[in-house]
Parts: sequence; C-alpha cells; structure tokens
Amino acid sequence: MALKITVIGTGYLGATHAAAMAELGFEVLGLDVVPEKIEMLTAGRAPMYEPGLEDLLRKHVAGFEGSTGRLRFTSSWEEIGAFGDVHFVCVNTPQKHGEYACDMSYVESAFDSLAPQLGRAALVVGKSTVPVGSAERLARRLTELAPAGGEVELAWNPEFLREGFAVQDTLHPDRIVVGTHSERSEKLLREVYATPIGEGAPFVVTDFPTAELVKTAANSFLATKISFINAMAEVCEAAGGDVVKLAEAIGYDERIGKKFLRAGIGFGGGCLPKDIRAFMARAGELGADQALTFLREVDSINMRRRGHMVELAREAVGSDSSFLGKRVAVLGATFKPDSDDVRDSPALNVAGQIHLQGGQVTVYDPKGMDNARGLFPTLGYAESALEAVRGADVVLHLTEWREFRELDPAELGEAVTRRLILDGRNALDPAVWRGAGWTYRAMGRPRA
Ligand code: UGA
Repeated sequence: MALKITVIGTGYLGATHAAAMAELGFEVLGLDVVPEKIEMLTAGRAPMYEPGLEDLLRKHVAGFEGSTGRLRFTSSWEEIGAFGDVHFVCVNTPQKHGEYACDMSYVESAFDSLAPQLGRAALVVGKSTVPVGSAERLARRLTELAPAGGEVELAWNPEFLREGFAVQDTLHPDRIVVGTHSERSEKLLREVYATPIGEGAPFVVTDFPTAELVKTAANSFLATKISFINAMAEVCEAAGGDVVKLAEAIGYDERIGKKFLRAGIGFGGGCLPKDIRAFMARAGELGADQALTFLREVDSINMRRRGHMVELAREAVGSDSSFLGKRVAVLGATFKPDSDDVRDSPALNVAGQIHLQGGQVTVYDPKGMDNARGLFPTLGYAESALEAVRGADVVLHLTEWREFRELDPAELGEAVTRRLILDGRNALDPAVWRGAGWTYRAMGRPRA
C-alpha cells in the first residue's frame, strides 16, 4: 500500500513540501497550529507568495475541479498520528530574541505533540534547520513519549529549497541528504524520494550530526561567498575597480563559479543571517568557536553593506548629516525577488534607517507590500514604481525584481525631481539609465 505522509508546519518549507509530496503521488495530511493557515490551504491558497505553489495546491487539494484530492490539512494531532506512516517536521527555527542561538521551541513542541499520538510503527523525519546534536536528543524523546516506543524512528533530512524556487527545488532537488541510524528508515525515505532519485538526484546517507551540519555548512558557505564579493566591492570602491567585472572574471574559474557572487546590499531573509549566528552559538557550546570566528566577519561585512547604502544615499542627496526634507524612493522591500518575505530584508532595513534619519521614504514592491507595511507601518508606500519615484531626490534600487529591470528610465525621469539612481543590487543596466540622462551609481563600481 502507498505510504501516507504528514507534514507538520505549513510555512515556506512545509506548505511546499506537502504539495510536492502530493505531486509525487502520496496521500498527504498537513498540520499547522495556526487555524487561518489551515483555512487558506484548504481553500487552495498559499499563506505566502511562492511561484507555482497555488497551482500545485489546487491540483491536489480536494474540492477543486479535476484535483487529485490527495492533499488535506488539519489542526488535529490525533488525526495526524492515525494517518501517517512518515511524518515530516517542517516548523521554523528562528533566532532567539536577543541571542545568536536558535529558538527550538517550535520543534520541541511539535515533537511533544506528535509523539504521544504515535501508536504504531512510524518514521518521523526532521526537516527544520536545527543546531547539531538536536536529532540525537529528539530521537530519545520520541522513544520515551511514543506509545509505540522503539517502533518509532527518527531520520534527519535537511532541506535546501530557495524561496522563489521552492516548488522546483522540492520536486527536483540537487541532492537528498538523510541522517539515519537504521536501514529501515533509509529504505522508507528512498521510497518517498523514488521519483527525484530516479531523475538522478544524489542520495547521501549520513549519521545525525553530519546531516544537521550539512545544512548549516551549506548556508554558511553561501553567506561567505556573498560577503567575500561584498568585501571585494569595498576594495574596488577604494581602488577604483569594478566588482561586477571582477566577479565575472573570477567566476569563469569553475572552482570558484559564477553563482552567489552578486555584490550589493548583502544577504537577508529568514535563513542565511540566523543560520550563521546559530551555527556560531552552537560551535561555542561545543568548544569549537574558533573554527567559526570567520563567520562573525561574514556577518559584519554583510551588515556593513546596509549602512554603506545609507551613506551613498546621503551623499547622493547632498546632505552631510540627515535626510531632512529629502524624498527617497525605494524600489523593493523583500529580501530577494520572487518572494513576499521581508524577514531581515536589507532593502527594508535601508529604507527604515533613512526614514529614521528624517528622509521621506516611499517604498514600492511587486509582492511584499502587505508584509512590509506590517513590519514598517511608518514608511510611505506607493502602488507602483512610477508612483514611488514621483518627486524623488534619489531612487534606490534595493531588490532586483524583473519588473524593475524592465522599467523605462525615460518615463521615470519625467516623474522624479533629480535623475539619480543608486543600484543596491548591481542588477540594472548602467548604459540604459545613463543613456536616459540619469546619474547611475552602484556599489563597488566606478562612477562614470
Ligand atoms: C537560502 C539557501 O540558498 C537555500 O539553499 C536554503 O535552503 C535556504 O536559505 C534555507 O535555509 O531555507 P533563501 O533564504 O531562499 O535560501 O535565499 P537565497 O537565494 O540564498 O538568498 C539569500 C540572500 O542573499 C538574499 O537576500 C539575496 O538577495 C542575497 N544574495 C544572493 C546576494 O546578495 N548576492 C548573491 O549573489 C546571491
């Protein structure tokens, strides 16, 4: 009989994982403790903007014309326990308030709620990003609390999906990593992932700590790559070099690679910043803090980018000390394009700093407006890029949405007070903007 799968937590990771599991042919039951999320998902709507996710939900949630009906949602732990052969735990692990460490409370409470419902053999699979050592502890807890005791096993299966490509990354992962103690759980997970394995996705089996570390190591490497190129941008600015050309030139070396070498205002979001901090905190607990002191530098280069952008903007509006009386248009609020996520968004951080220094800031973002308003209600918001730039003394391009690359600089030029644009993502074409009479400046590039 086909495996029945449950997914606990329906955020970016869980909602996508649940829909993807249904797409792979399994019957899936998702759970969230927030009733509004269950209502939305049951109505075939995604709780966040993620390209392709709503189509997938409607293809599988019961009640839509032609849907497979394989995907349902509930808030009942009892139902989850009775239904599932394999339970994926996908709750989030944010940064603890006022500390670097990771807040494990959602994971702990998911395990504490799930375990007492497990009255028969089952596999629990942790997907959340957790400090190394957590899986070992959670496995013991499961055995203690589950009525089926040793019949309930744990595996750790980190997730590498990127927001904006979550559906694609889940259905066609570039690797599947499984931390496990037993052949039985490895076999079950090979069955769950039979389709991507059949397409050639490598299946890497490890112990618990390695599986946990693979995730934090991968994100730390990506963060390091971004901060490396941003450090080069600082040197380029000092030396009159061009970081975009530099990135292109070093990227031709296959050992270095072109990806994740876009200099700008740096990384943000719900993963990279908190993951490197939690990693440092955990290494400290393990007595290995020296191994990760470089991540402190990675973090500080990254945070410096935001301040640097504010400085560039201040210089651009010709003010020494404040933005008083200056109108600043901000294009982009999300931490990256094709997402509505504004968690630790460099764009919003820059907008907020300028606002606090007296600037009149107007923000426009294609998908992140509601979330941005929620986080920074005192900023000005406009319904389009054209509206946002009206009367602006300077325009800041802070999230590289395609919509912004397709803007007509001539049309925007008619609306602004001064044709001055700062590209915080090195994503616009300088020649096009300069050709339309704009002063174009970017981070780590020469001024024309
Ligand atoms: C990141 C990882 O890329 C995923 O592999 C991982 O699964 C995920 O975290 C997670 O832990 O859940 P994500 O947070 O969606 O994914 O975003 P990224 O695409 O990694 O971008 C992160 C930030 O880096 C963004 O703010 C982006 O603008 C910035 N970035 C990216 C740069 O500044 N330069 C670049 O060259 C690339």
